[in-house]
Amino acid sequence: MPEPNGVNGMNDMSGMNHKNANLLEVDGLKKYFPVKNGLFAAKRVQAVDGVSLSIAKGETLGLVGESGCGKSTLGRSILRLIEPTAGTVRFGGETVFGGSAAKSPNPNRFRRKMQIIFQDPSASLDPRMTVGEIVREALDIHNIGGGRKERAERVRELLSRVGLNTEHANRYPHEFSGGQQQRIGIARALAVDPSFIVCDEPISALDVSIQSQIVNMLEDMQKELGLTYLFIAHDLSVVKHISDRVAVMYLGKVVELSNADELHLHPLHPYTKTLISAAPIPDPRKSRANKRIILEGDLPSAIDPPSGCRFRTRCPIAKPSCAAAEPPLREVSPGHTVACSMI
Ligand SMILES: Nc1ncnc2c1ncn2[C@@H]1O[C@H](COP(=O)(O)OP(=O)(O)OP(=O)(O)O)[C@@H](O)[C@H]1O
Ligand SMILES: [Mg+2]
Repeated sequence: MPEPNGVNGMNDMSGMNHKNANLLEVDGLKKYFPVKNGLFAAKRVQAVDGVSLSIAKGETLGLVGESGCGKSTLGRSILRLIEPTAGTVRFGGETVFGGSAAKSPNPNRFRRKMQIIFQDPSASLDPRMTVGEIVREALDIHNIGGGRKERAERVRELLSRVGLNTEHANRYPHEFSGGQQQRIGIARALAVDPSFIVCDEPISALDVSIQSQIVNMLEDMQKELGLTYLFIAHDLSVVKHISDRVAVMYLGKVVELSNADELHLHPLHPYTKTLISAAPIPDPRKSRANKRIILEGDLPSAIDPPSGCRFRTRCPIAKPSCAAAEPPLREVSPGHTVACSMI
């Protein structure tokens, strides 16, 4: 019997309910952006449209999907860096976002425990601040980490933790390589001792040679500090390596969620299959022989998504009935859920 979500909130908060090991619970989360002008002025970008997922303490949930499908918007909405439109987010049994902004507590309350590492490290670091100031800033804001001396010591400790030199504290971000800048971003996220980190494509902008160093470091930190990750990436092979489970997102919705190995070995949703099959090759006969699936067309607009199943316009197995109703996520084997009425 699944535990009723939210109903036992008070019990969860007391820490007495050990059955529920989920650190993060997201239910029906939506983020719609207003469209300012043009043809669709009265409509909204349905960037995230009813996502439900949970992440257990110490787990890494991978999140994949093509550009524009809503991965960053989902990550930022969970942290309330942008305000969700609807749904609930619970963290450690407490409500982070509860249906409407008015009912939700001040997001600063969760900032220490929920952090983010950004895709583009250079853009996310203030060029006018020294590395030491960047890493120390959150300690100052939250007034933690002791006095001046202790905070300076904590900054040095964090810099060495991420493989940087303690003397780097006095330098500016532009003096560093992309990989080093990302290490600074990671030190900044770690400074406030978080338990959950949204890693928003933390290696996409880096040289391939650097990528595995950063991934390994994130994995080591997770083991050492008991961190929980939402790890966003375009590339399924990256998330497969680091994730316990993987959620596949398409046009604002999660279409498949499963254990990482299971997803790779037995992908069910036609979209997941296209992500797993390698890059398209020009010869269609050859691609059929290799069971490669070529995804046609671009991601449809999130302003006016297709009716029914959103993937149907690009789906190789779609039937006319797929336009009628939206397929719900359903469990087809333990822990493996998929949203497709053809399966
Ligand atoms: N501030 C905003 N205002 C309006 N639309 C937005 C805003 N931020 C994102 N969007 C739209 O929301 C959708 C999802 O964007 P999002 O950045 O979350 O995608 P993503 O999956 O992270 O893409 P990428 O892989 O390129 O980072 C896109 O259609 C995008 O144009
Ligand atoms: Mg993004």
